Amino acid sequence: MARQFFVGGNFKMNPATQADKLALAKVLNEAELDPATEVVISPPALYLIPLKEAIRKDIKVAAQNCYLKDSGAFTGEISPAQLADAQIPYVILGHSERRTIFHETSEIVAQKTRAALDKGLSVILCIGETLKEREAEETAKVCQAQLKAAVDVLKEGDWSKIVIAYEPVWAIGTGKVATPQQAQQAHVDIRSYLSKVVSSSVADSIRIIYGGSVSAANCKELSTLPDVDGFLVGGASLKPEFVQIVNSKK
Ligand code: G3P
Repeated sequence: MARQFFVGGNFKMNPATQADKLALAKVLNEAELDPATEVVISPPALYLIPLKEAIRKDIKVAAQNCYLKDSGAFTGEISPAQLADAQIPYVILGHSERRTIFHETSEIVAQKTRAALDKGLSVILCIGETLKEREAEETAKVCQAQLKAAVDVLKEGDWSKIVIAYEPVWAIGTGKVATPQQAQQAHVDIRSYLSKVVSSSVADSIRIIYGGSVSAANCKELSTLPDVDGFLVGGASLKPEFVQIVNSKK
């Protein structure tokens, strides 16, 4: 099954200024990008609309989070309805920083996923184990438990609007990238779990992307792995090397 390669750039709570954001957009607007790769960049919420207006049309933007209701007394939150109204097509949900720092459970992430899909958004659904869980050989079990919460609230047809990002927590921001064997095995386990609990066609067609210290130096080898369908890039998405990562299949 041919799956379109996908590269996301998660800026997290960066850049610090509008000027830096526009500088990033300029680098991407002037770059030669592989047309076969789907590119999505995710700035802080404040910059979503101006970046969407400034960036080339073949690059999409994603919110880094959203709430699970469409309106109401939820101070500080952004709703799926508001993202849809602003024509923001993607939202990242369940990032490990949301899970650890902001205590989002897999059930909350699943409800947010349901709410986002109900408004026509596409979702980058993040899962991944901690170092302790990997050392205890619980990676597959942890990823399956995180996915099960979503499986319980989604219908088979919903999965076409989901990209799964496998992001081992111990590789995020550490410079310690997963080995090709670790990444491939985790992706195979995720795909076979989906084949079992959803369907083989969903398992075959869904993009499973890797995140965790992806760089220009390691992206080419990782991009050759049969079950790695792209990347979710943090730190390197703020640098010119992000272009090389987008073009890693070229
Ligand atoms: O969402 C992507 C992010 O968690 C990976 O961060 O800096 O390790 O590429 P980084």
